[in-house]
Amino acid sequence: MPGSLLSTEQLTRQDITKIVHFFQKIKKLPEGEVPRILTNYWVALIFLEASTRTRISFYRAVKLLGGEPVDLFPESSSLKKGETLLDTLKTLEAEGFLYAVIRLSEEGVLQKIQPEVRLGIINAGEGKIQHPTQAIGDWCTLKEVFPEEKSLNICFIGDTVSSRVFHSCGSLFSRMGCLVGICSPSELEPGRTTFPYLKFAYVQESMRWADVIYILRPQVERWKEEDREKFLSLTRAFQIHSIPEGKWVMHAGPFLRDVEIASSLVDSPQSLIAQQVKNGLYARMALFFWLQGKDEILD
Ligand code: CP
Repeated sequence: MPGSLLSTEQLTRQDITKIVHFFQKIKKLPEGEVPRILTNYWVALIFLEASTRTRISFYRAVKLLGGEPVDLFPESSSLKKGETLLDTLKTLEAEGFLYAVIRLSEEGVLQKIQPEVRLGIINAGEGKIQHPTQAIGDWCTLKEVFPEEKSLNICFIGDTVSSRVFHSCGSLFSRMGCLVGICSPSELEPGRTTFPYLKFAYVQESMRWADVIYILRPQVERWKEEDREKFLSLTRAFQIHSIPEGKWVMHAGPFLRDVEIASSLVDSPQSLIAQQVKNGLYARMALFFWLQGKDEILD
């Protein structure tokens, strides 16, 4: 049976190190020379929430590995007629699919469903807590920028409570030896997390401490209607215009120019944003090598 990636917490330090190793090997290869480990395999992309980067990079990763990605558009699928996600997955299993890459807003659904199917399930973003492939890709980017650094200070600024990027990256970065900080309006601070973090009251103070400033989009779609105006006005004080020299800025995207991040900072030489997107492709290819247990092909 194919492997699954359901959560960031599932990955050990050894797993993460192995995926980074695969990523580094794959990134050096010309596209046509990456071993086509998914030849004759079908992979379903089921995005019940909007996505550009994750969906497209999974599509391309599967293609470049020789597989067949199929986008199951929820609005024109039988999910629309009331079929459950589990029954949709069983249908895909019967159709001969090997993996399903799934994004959805409900938390815990994938953990429940995975034992019921023979497909490999890959979490492509789930509610406010899980976005494991974003965390893997971002860790690969940090290893490129800081190849020798053992411990980095990484501060997440903005709407931490609603952000699966914060929860997944914080968990993974912390496991790999980094210190995690947050700087958020008190109404948007996280509750319990699986990792420790330092709290900063002031943006300037947090940026002095951090090596990397990770800016988060206000997750308006996850706020109650009645909180939206108030929360948006609170996040305005956390908009980042520039960062100190020698520091880096990250953002998982989609970013809103001149809302949480100044437009000039998105495109500045201190920005890792484009590199994060590019590495997302290679990291997802590396993930398939790990899931398929194809260590020897890249060694
Ligand atoms: N970072 C991220 O998940 O972006 P998309 O929503 O565009 O996939």
